[in-house]
Amino acid sequence: MTFLDLPQILSAAGTVRLPGSKSISNRVLLLSALADGETEVRDLLASDDTERMLDALKTLGVGVTHLGGDNWRIGGCGGRFPIRQAELFLGNAGTAFRPLTAALALAGGDYVLKGVARMHERPIGDLVDGLRQLGADITYLENDGYPPLHLKPAAIHSGGVVRVRGDVSSQFLTGLLMALPLTGVEATVEVVGELISKPYIEITLATMKRFGVVVEREGRQRFRVPAGSRYVSPGTIYVEGDASSASYFLALGAIGGGPVRVEGVGRDSIQGDVRFAEALARMGAVIEMGANWIEARAPSGGLTAIDLDCNHIPDAAMTLATAALFARGTTTLRNIASWRVKETDRIAAMAIELRKLGAEVEEGADFIRVTPALLKPAVIDTYDDHRMAMCFSLAACGTPVRINDPRCVAKTFPDYFGALASVTREAPVISIDGPSASGKGTVAARVAAALGFHYLDSGALYRLTALAAQRAGVAWDDEAGVAAVAAGLDVIFTETSVRLAGEEVGDAIRTEEISAGASRVAALPAVRTALLFRQRAFNRAPGLVADGRDMGSVVFPRSILKVFLTASPEARAERRYKQLMEKGLSANLNDLLLDLRQRDERDSRRSVAPLQQGVDALLLDTTPLSIEQAVGQVLAWSESALQ
Ligand code: DC
Repeated sequence: MTFLDLPQILSAAGTVRLPGSKSISNRVLLLSALADGETEVRDLLASDDTERMLDALKTLGVGVTHLGGDNWRIGGCGGRFPIRQAELFLGNAGTAFRPLTAALALAGGDYVLKGVARMHERPIGDLVDGLRQLGADITYLENDGYPPLHLKPAAIHSGGVVRVRGDVSSQFLTGLLMALPLTGVEATVEVVGELISKPYIEITLATMKRFGVVVEREGRQRFRVPAGSRYVSPGTIYVEGDASSASYFLALGAIGGGPVRVEGVGRDSIQGDVRFAEALARMGAVIEMGANWIEARAPSGGLTAIDLDCNHIPDAAMTLATAALFARGTTTLRNIASWRVKETDRIAAMAIELRKLGAEVEEGADFIRVTPALLKPAVIDTYDDHRMAMCFSLAACGTPVRINDPRCVAKTFPDYFGALASVTREAPVISIDGPSASGKGTVAARVAAALGFHYLDSGALYRLTALAAQRAGVAWDDEAGVAAVAAGLDVIFTETSVRLAGEEVGDAIRTEEISAGASRVAALPAVRTALLFRQRAFNRAPGLVADGRDMGSVVFPRSILKVFLTASPEARAERRYKQLMEKGLSANLNDLLLDLRQRDERDSRRSVAPLQQGVDALLLDTTPLSIEQAVGQVLAWSESALQ
């Protein structure tokens, strides 16, 4: 499992150029393929979903040429695909699967359409029922009402009225409407039940119009495709930026200060999801809009909760669910039943993950209610759903989070996390690494106090692991056993105490025996992996000073300052000796020196995260320095790094 750890975000401001809209991209590709003439498609979204569509079109014999960048040339086939028999794999791309089903069923040919396991759980029965009314020959290959499908050539009879349910997915209506011109005869589609995700139909109609087919409509219930309708290439067509993708950055601006501006969508957009900006404004965000851009800023008093019917912004509404973590009061999002049949059951997934962060969540068949709380670090699962990954990146405005399988964003926004980094400022880390008893703990704690930052004594986590393993009867060389202990450590750090399972262990983890045990368990790779996110979870606002062996090299590689703090073995042994004497404990200087040398050896020779000065770390040899002098030096470096 890959993951991405996000430190707490301090603030957000800047401009993001949005990738092309997924919905528009795949509609434009299909209509270009069905049209008479060649179409040059500019600013196409480069993503998994569009790749599935491009691959399918190539398999169907359509001329597909990459012109470089996000520009493509599509050779239209005038409504008849050259390849009449094929098997198409469409991944989890609903925007490819539904319209292609309709187009291929009406264009005629022998085709099998398949997807990933989740695609086979997403309903398509209403679309198939609609197509069958026109005479299409469609067989379910596994479960009735779901992909995979087998389409066979059939006599398509004159349209008349086709009834299609509109309350499961608007993509059924979109698929039918886009395919109907292939019949050449007049056909009317009547929507049964309330049409959900209405704005997507507007995108469909607007795109069809660009390709020369004007659908006559009576409100949102009846749509007539006139006889003789044919798609004709518009020559060159530009794909708008993705309005759903815009939602994450607008929310960031509203939560993290702003202004954050998105370019590629604005007042002139044909995408309904631009109305997300209105929802954000109702939460108090300050919104400005131009023809081709939108900008969001945080209100001075912070965001407030809303109660909203989200039918008009089904995808972008997900962003409101995580924005609700930063709003005063309880946010209720209604009329979102379609979430349950998307890439995953988004209502259930959203509820589970929001609860991990500490929020109180209530879910129903078609609503979700979110009451925020003090956010706690969490490991977020993304369910192979790009929007889950992007929505939960917003939680980083309140706490460090780990996003599992972050690459799922490639469905619509492959460089999402790069764009996120470009408009956010993360809580800074100052790393102080060095050998045992070099004084780095004392220096780090004092620097943290002087800066008002949090402090992480990472060595304490290895010491706690050794102690907890000993108490649980797990041997220090049992890698899997100790890693499990590390993963489940129940510890609470306060300024003056360390508690393990409720018991004060500040002194117990400092004995010579546990020091040796810590050094042994720290050499086990699985233990280091188990402790990684626990350490990164300290990276909170306003900042962190972390001490250890691999703070700058592994745990916080983006530290704004890395210090390698050391002293001669003799000086370190002497300091330790004095400490022990002050505590009234007996000690032998020579034994201490020998022990230190052995631990240095083990910490620097081990294969994972060995102790060594990184090329980007500043060396501070404290042999001749007092603690005050060492602290003064690190503070001076910190101040210039923080500027
Ligand atoms: O800093 P310390 O002496 O409390 O560390 C205890 C042990 O944990 C020491 O043997 C090295 C190991 N350690 C580590 O491997 N990586 C860290 N980041 C911190 C400590």
